[in-house]
Amino acid sequence: MTSQRLTTAEWQALDRAHHTHPFVDPATLDEKGTRVIVGADGCHLIDSDGRRILDGMAGLWCVNLGYGRHELAQAAYDQMIELPYYNTFFRSATPPTIELASILSELAPGTLGHAFFSSSGSEANDTVVRLVRRYWDLRGAPAKTTFISRTYAYHGSTMAAASLGGFAAMHAVGGLPLPGFEHVMPPYWFAMGEDDETPEETGARAARTLEEKIVALGPENVAAFIGEPVMGAGGVIVPPENYWPEVQRICRDHDVLLVCDEVITGFGRTGEWFGAQTFELHPDLMTIAKGLSSGYAPISAVLMTDEFFETLSGGGVIPHGYTYSGHPVSAAVAIENLRLIKEEGLVERVRTQTGPYFQTRLRAELSDHPLVGEVRGIGLIGAVELAQDKASRTPFEPVGRVAALCHEHCYEEGVILRAMRDVLCASPPLTIDREEIDHLVAATRRALDRTAEELGLP
Ligand SMILES: Cc1ncc(COP(=O)(O)O)c(C=O)c1O
Repeated sequence: MTSQRLTTAEWQALDRAHHTHPFVDPATLDEKGTRVIVGADGCHLIDSDGRRILDGMAGLWCVNLGYGRHELAQAAYDQMIELPYYNTFFRSATPPTIELASILSELAPGTLGHAFFSSSGSEANDTVVRLVRRYWDLRGAPAKTTFISRTYAYHGSTMAAASLGGFAAMHAVGGLPLPGFEHVMPPYWFAMGEDDETPEETGARAARTLEEKIVALGPENVAAFIGEPVMGAGGVIVPPENYWPEVQRICRDHDVLLVCDEVITGFGRTGEWFGAQTFELHPDLMTIAKGLSSGYAPISAVLMTDEFFETLSGGGVIPHGYTYSGHPVSAAVAIENLRLIKEEGLVERVRTQTGPYFQTRLRAELSDHPLVGEVRGIGLIGAVELAQDKASRTPFEPVGRVAALCHEHCYEEGVILRAMRDVLCASPPLTIDREEIDHLVAATRRALDRTAEELGLP
């Protein structure tokens, strides 16, 4: 195998010379070197030094079925032999693509019975922007073009998806957001709650900012509100119970479409097939990716309601699509992935067993640590927010330094988490067992201890 040809140092030198990474300061690669991952099985990765590391992030929140699943490899192989590629443009389609669309229509809640495929979450969200604007045009409301999203939302990295996203650092690259993209506050009690506010009050205030924004822009100009049922890359922000019902009411009252970005929350992560089911949401559109194929092949989709699709299909040609929309190999992998998730009862297992166990262990073992401000999560997605002072929710300065240190210690302790500002995020494969959860939590605790020691904190 090529991955065994070179030493770690040789891989690092070659990588540094020719490979530009997403989301890292290239200088860090000089300083610390690239982590070269050469193999994986179950919930574990193997690096180029032969170390086994528990993947507490399922790659990038996507390897829901875990690594080394021969069934998925076989599905890809069989489809490549049968028909490696054909497109879905014009009047063409392939059997796996048609079958996957039909399976998704049964799996998705409500009347989300129509799938438009692409390869990534970003492309799916770009598709949302174009199709929603088209929809309002066809409905005779061409001024309804503005999208409202939230600070700390992550919807991808293309121009439109990053405009939907709520990260100043991303907006600073490429002159974003594009016109027509607005942001309101998320229901993020720990960082944004007023001193005397309960999480529910922060949730109500966050929803209110959405209504105020719609009114200020004029509902006749607002196309849609987009949100992740649980915000992922923004730091695993779990909304209080009153938030989504109020947002849903606001969207309905002002004739604003509701789009759920389920790129992380889809396919079992929160203990239901979709986050929309966990929070009793009835979105007009849903974006899915990642767990749709457990990351084994790139595929994403926008799911649309019957009503949305009927309007869209009354407007003639839909001038939008990608070479790999509905790629047959990715579709075949996704079909097998969904079959296995069902056969192994993984969604139910997350809801009734591993999810509650994970949440309980995280809180029991980490909440009292002096560096920890809050532990939160739902199902198999969780976060540990670090803070200088827990009671007053005072952050560390500069923001991000402590979690970055801790993230390094986690790796040394044999577990990969994600550091975002001063939040450590976890989103392991849905196949994780109790023993592995115990290992993840214990390694994180040791990493927190080492971080406190390095900072000279008690
Ligand atoms: C909620 C959400 N939406 C969209 C995306 C973008 O997906 P992709 O990286 O496949 O373009 C991500 C990626 O992390 C995500 O978390």
